[in-house]
Amino acid sequence: MNDPGKQSRSIRSFVRREGRLTKAQKFALNNYWDKYGIDYDPSLLDFEKLFQRRAPVIIDIGVGTGESTLQHARQHPENNYLAIEVHRPGIGQLLNKIEIELLHNVKIIQHDVIEVLKNQIPNQCITQFFIFFPDPWPKKRHHKRRLINKELMNLIKHKLVRHGRLHIATDWENYAEHILELFSNNNDYYNLAGDSNCCPRPNWRVETRYESRGYKLKHQVWNFCYGLAGNLAEIKSSKESIEANSLLS
Ligand SMILES: C[S@@+](CC[C@H](N)C(=O)[O-])C[C@H]1O[C@@H](n2cnc3c(N)ncnc32)[C@H](O)[C@@H]1O
Repeated sequence: MNDPGKQSRSIRSFVRREGRLTKAQKFALNNYWDKYGIDYDPSLLDFEKLFQRRAPVIIDIGVGTGESTLQHARQHPENNYLAIEVHRPGIGQLLNKIEIELLHNVKIIQHDVIEVLKNQIPNQCITQFFIFFPDPWPKKRHHKRRLINKELMNLIKHKLVRHGRLHIATDWENYAEHILELFSNNNDYYNLAGDSNCCPRPNWRVETRYESRGYKLKHQVWNFCYGLAGNLAEIKSSKESIEANSLLS
C-alpha cells in the first residue's frame, strides 16, 4: 500500500491521522489487500481486467468504513464498485466485510481521490459517483479544504458516462449552500431536482454513522443529484427530473 500523504497537492481535504488499527483491521489489511485493494499508480486502470467482467462502474468517494458502498454493492451485484478512501482503519473494516460477505464487485484504492481521478480513471467510464457526508470543514478559514470544489467537479465531468449521475449528501447547511452555488454557476452539470433545489433522500441510500450523527446534532440532511448538461434535452423529455425540494424550506 502506498502513502496517500506523500503527494504534491498542498491543500488537501483530509488530514493525515493514522489512528489506532484494531487487530481485525490490521489482519484485514495484511491478508485481504492483495485481493480487493488497488495500489495507487499513476497509470490508467482497466476495469474489465480488474473485475474480470464488463459492468457499470460506480465510484464512492471518501467511503469511511464503506457502509454506503457495501449496501449498494449487495443490492446491485450487476455493478462494479470502486471505494476511494485515505484512512486505513476504515479500509481495514471494509476489507473484512467484503471478505465475509464474499462480495466480488468491490475494489478499494487508498489514496487522495483527486490524484486517483487525474491519473487512474479513464474518461467517460463511470456511471455514478457517490459523495456522501464529505468532511464539512465548518470553519471559514478551512473552507478551502472542502472536497467538493471546482477542481473535483471538473474531473468528475470527464469521468462520467453520458447519462452518468453524481449523488451528494451533506448534513451541513453551509456546505449544502456551497454545493448549490457551485453547480448553479457551472454549465456542465444539470440539477435533476431543478435549479437551486435539492432532491428527496434517495431510498436506496443507507444511513451511515455520519448521517446518524447529523440527526443527533439536529441537522437537516440535503441530497443532490446531478447529470451532465449535454443531455438536458433528453433528460427533460424522459421526465427523469426529480421532484424538487427547496434547500431552505
Ligand atoms: C465524514 S467521512 C464520510 C464517510 C462516508 N461517506 C459516510 O457517509 O459514512 C468523509 C471521508 O472522506 C475521506 N476523504 C476526505 N478527503 C478525501 C480525499 N481527498 N480522498 C479520499 N478520501 C477522502 C475521509 O478520510 C473520511 O473518511
